[in-house]
Amino acid sequence: MTWKRICATGDVAENSLKLFDVDGVPILVVNHGGDFRAIPPLCPHMEEPLEQSGICDGRVLTCTKHLWQWDLATNEPGAETGKPLLMYDLEVEGGDIKVFVERELEYEFDDDDDYDDDDSFWDDD
Ligand code: FES
Repeated sequence: MTWKRICATGDVAENSLKLFDVDGVPILVVNHGGDFRAIPPLCPHMEEPLEQSGICDGRVLTCTKHLWQWDLATNEPGAETGKPLLMYDLEVEGGDIKVFVERELEYEFDDDDDYDDDDSFWDDD
């Protein structure tokens, strides 16, 4: 594959995340304070869909499942965050967001994780 148009910049509200399908490759676009990132749709910790569990506050993306965080400007993981985000190359041209999709970016997940699958700081039950 090559550069592919995903959407218009106005299709992803500021400080939000939106999932797109690019020729069968799921790509999550994050608008962080008017800048954009294109990332795989799953949290690199335990495969939580970031479209639901992710919160963007303008610079930091937080997965609310176990509070892993990433600085979207630098892709630095937070102190308690075990893996950086994988990112697709992205460019904005004429109001369009384009990503370079050579192959689907996927995380490797460990089988022996310290967290229980049902653990969450936000679950009420
Ligand atoms: S699944 Fe995202 S922080 Fe654990």
